[in-house]
Amino acid sequence: MSIRIIGTGSALPAKSVTNEDLAKLVETSDEWIRERTGIAGRHISTGETVAELSAAACSRALEDAGRTAEEVDLLLVATCSPECGVPCVACQVQGMIGAAHAVAFDLNAACSGFLFALHTAWAYMEAGICRNALIVGAEVLSKLVDWTDRGTCILFGDGAGAVFAEYGGKEKFYFVQHSDGSKGGALTCDTRQLKNPYVEMPMEAPWIRMDGREIFAFAVRRVPEGIEEVLGKAGMTADDVDLFVLHQANYRIIEGIAKRLKQDAEKFPVNLDRVGNMSSAAIPVLLDELKRAGRLKSGMNIVLSGFGAGLTWGACVMKV
Ligand code: UT7
Repeated sequence: MSIRIIGTGSALPAKSVTNEDLAKLVETSDEWIRERTGIAGRHISTGETVAELSAAACSRALEDAGRTAEEVDLLLVATCSPECGVPCVACQVQGMIGAAHAVAFDLNAACSGFLFALHTAWAYMEAGICRNALIVGAEVLSKLVDWTDRGTCILFGDGAGAVFAEYGGKEKFYFVQHSDGSKGGALTCDTRQLKNPYVEMPMEAPWIRMDGREIFAFAVRRVPEGIEEVLGKAGMTADDVDLFVLHQANYRIIEGIAKRLKQDAEKFPVNLDRVGNMSSAAIPVLLDELKRAGRLKSGMNIVLSGFGAGLTWGACVMKV
């Protein structure tokens, strides 16, 4: 037995922001952003929270799966941009959708978060701890972005995606996961500073800081390695794969990965032109769009791969 993904859903904030809009805030241009990243627009929260976007994505995934919130056993939210430390986003979502019987908790592995959460849910189901799971990737990164830093504010977008998976079916899932904390300084975002009556610390702005070139080089090297590794576990090669659903960070990264794997770029669907880099929400939102567009056909071999801050990266082979 294995698991099956039987429903997907997503939610984006109502406000859409173009590159031209950003060129009014920082010294940049539509041409530079498109050429260097492939991004033309993104959705930015004007009030929607990570929990609200997650709840909307979950409701759509449950509707798509033909299941009710009361049936959910496990509710996992991958996010690095929760509104508060406690309660976790997953518990907030549980309350919002009425998933009264679920165990709910969050997981943070930045842009690899959805993949790591899917792997966790898979392991819970394989171990018999639960029979089904709602797995969510959700971010409101716009509150962590320094809107005066043109190197980062042009990249990110807000949104949430969810899948509903249940135990059953014959097609095996294969996973690999990796982390390298020694390179964590390449992409950071502080939260609250230590501030109590016994310390005096300089306050630093808690914004996303990134060495874009280092992250770029890491992604183009490590992601193909991870994909080859998981394909090896599944006894497959890249030629056997129908679609590579990758974290949507930069179109040039996706092209570089396709080239290393010697695969046609058409096997790598993209939506980053419309939604930017939504960190842990990128893969489930793209999966939902592909499913609703009828592009996920029964029997297809799909590779998912996420990579980002931590550093973290991982890949999964699954059949739909
Ligand atoms: O989810 C994972 C998270 N992060 C990523 O995936 C990011 C991976 N990295 C990237 O996508 C790319 O490194 C960036 C898009 C962030 C930057 O592209 P790049 O080709 O690596 O540019 P660069 O940082 O090497 O900068 C080249 C030039 C610099 O000017 P000088 O020093 O050559 O005069 C930058 O100041 O481009 C300048 N620049 C900009 N110019 C116009 C940087 N950002 C902008 C901008 N508009 N928005």
